[in-house]
Amino acid sequence: MRLSRRAAGLAESATMRVTRKAQELRDAGREIIDWSAGQPDFPSPKVAVDAANQALAEGFTRYTAAAGIPDLRRALADHYGRRHGAPWTADNVIVTVGAKAALFEFILALIDEGDHVVVPSPCWVSFPEQIRFAGGQPVLVPLQAEDGFAIRAEPLIAAIDDNTRMVLINSPSNPTGGIVEAGELRRLVEYCAERGIMVLSDETYERFLFDGREHASAGTLAAEFPETVIVISSFSKTYAMTGWRIGYALASADLVRRVGAVQSHATSNPTSFAMRGALAALTGAESDVERMITAFERRRNTLVRGLERLPGVTCTTPPGAFYAFPNVAACYREGCRGSLDMAEYLLEEAGVAIVPGVAFGADEHIRISFACSDADLATGMERLETALRQGGVQ
Ligand SMILES: Cc1ncc(COP(=O)(O)O)c(C=O)c1O
Repeated sequence: MRLSRRAAGLAESATMRVTRKAQELRDAGREIIDWSAGQPDFPSPKVAVDAANQALAEGFTRYTAAAGIPDLRRALADHYGRRHGAPWTADNVIVTVGAKAALFEFILALIDEGDHVVVPSPCWVSFPEQIRFAGGQPVLVPLQAEDGFAIRAEPLIAAIDDNTRMVLINSPSNPTGGIVEAGELRRLVEYCAERGIMVLSDETYERFLFDGREHASAGTLAAEFPETVIVISSFSKTYAMTGWRIGYALASADLVRRVGAVQSHATSNPTSFAMRGALAALTGAESDVERMITAFERRRNTLVRGLERLPGVTCTTPPGAFYAFPNVAACYREGCRGSLDMAEYLLEEAGVAIVPGVAFGADEHIRISFACSDADLATGMERLETALRQGGVQ
């Protein structure tokens, strides 16, 4: 078989690979603690389920406008106006098949062969792959663990050159939980706006902020820099609706129209009744969201305290998202030389599924999701400690 050059260079997502391997072990009868999942363990909000059921019962099952149902586009624009003072209307919003499709479509619409996209690293697995798929070149800018993996403007600006078309940031970050502060975001957007460089802000984890922190949304800068700012977000994590596949993007109306053309040839509209459910979640599920975030903050604290006690493990406390990203390099040894080996060792020896940091460009680290039950957190921690001590780390 002769694949296109584009597809031949594309590897299976490492996060998906771990999930598949863990499932194989489960199928073989092993009890596996899943610390790899990039999704909340909470159910979707009842208001969303009810609204989707009702939409189905009413026969709301046909194609809709390719860019999404007008009510949801309008509600999202209002939401960003209220929360972040953004001047956006429904024309500035496109509803997509998850944030993943939004990212793909904006990257395809904006990136040409050879264009550079500056991305803080470690970063989510799909960013570099999607950029390369479009013919672009990811320019990865290392973040510092000692700085809590904070996203800072100056190192990103220093990586910008004549070929740079976009800076892609993700705050709070998957996999580090690191965030961008409002001042740093403003500096970055101002600099990019002067040079005609787009700033794409993936805010998929925008609600998962701990210790009373406020999210710095690029939406707050949309009025000042309407041609520069793109916000992408999702119902997946905020509302525990990963399987519904509803994400969205907000940008200049002209760009949204162009991306709408891409979407009209790619997916057409996101699922009609899922959009009705999403609309209900946006307006009626705040208490569900708050309950989940409170639980995640508690779990984060338990997990990080536990990790700090483990031999050879160092972990900064993530300010956001729902992942811990400890450095485990001191545990590497003969036969377990990197995070991929470590992931396999932990899965096979301890029955704990984590994601190797190498998938995110950080081989000294592993990613642990605390979007799992308290019981799984406790059992996973016991197993991790036993496995690391057995592995020779004292
Ligand atoms: C940083 C980031 N962006 C986007 C996505 C995609 O989310 P979805 O396509 O489910 O909306 C994910 C999912 O893991 C993510 O971690």
